[in-house]
Amino acid sequence: MTDATANSPTTEPSHVRYWALIPCAGSGSRAGSDGPKQYQSLAGRPMVLHTLAAFAAVARLSGLLVVLAPDDAFFTSLNSAYPVARCGGATRADSVRNGLALLLQQGAQRHDWVLVHDAARCLITPAQIDSLIDACSTDAVGGLLAHRLPDTLKAEVNGRAAATVDRSDKWLAQTPQMFRIGMLLDALWRAGAGVTDEASAIEALGAQPLLVAGSAQNFKVTYPEDFALAEAVLQARARTNK
Ligand code: C5P
Repeated sequence: MTDATANSPTTEPSHVRYWALIPCAGSGSRAGSDGPKQYQSLAGRPMVLHTLAAFAAVARLSGLLVVLAPDDAFFTSLNSAYPVARCGGATRADSVRNGLALLLQQGAQRHDWVLVHDAARCLITPAQIDSLIDACSTDAVGGLLAHRLPDTLKAEVNGRAAATVDRSDKWLAQTPQMFRIGMLLDALWRAGAGVTDEASAIEALGAQPLLVAGSAQNFKVTYPEDFALAEAVLQARARTNK
């Protein structure tokens, strides 16, 4: 899949469906929070419910599956109607791979599209999800939301800036990332448990995922200070929507 035609547009067969897969099985150790970060309360409800509400508002999705850790003690207490599977693995890639296999067992087809999205990117909007689907549904590979790097990029050696890296072709990979279920599952098996996003597994096949402009607000809540920022954005949106 190294020739240029591998990335050219295709005609979308009408029977193709779109699924969302939300890996939610992380422990969130960098967040410094009590328990997994995706369950911390933001603007009045657990972070993951903001994420799921955005996907629930996208009419083109045929279904959604939330991947939980086998010992997840929190999600059930939310009494939400979202379908879950307790098949989370040791790494994000394992969780995604297990979730994709389950989607296929439950009736999804290998040629269907799946949008994989981090539970911890709770500021995603239905409009951004729709823009990814619009951009990728006729693409031979698929693609991801991403944000052009705004800052100057440094390479570190022993805590010091050793070099400045050209940022002109650099993007921050976000989610959702949208690929055919079969192609993605094969790519993840080949790439192994260490890949941190779906696109890198697809790139390892020699294909080039489409970069679709996302938003700086679609950041992954990761560090302690991210919670206050996400809360402020959610509060501001709630005021605007009143
Ligand atoms: O840890 P990180 O921020 O990279 O996690 C990104 C997403 O992947 C989060 O939504 C997290 O819950 C999920 N994850 C998972 N299974 C793991 C590790 C992370 O579903 N083993």
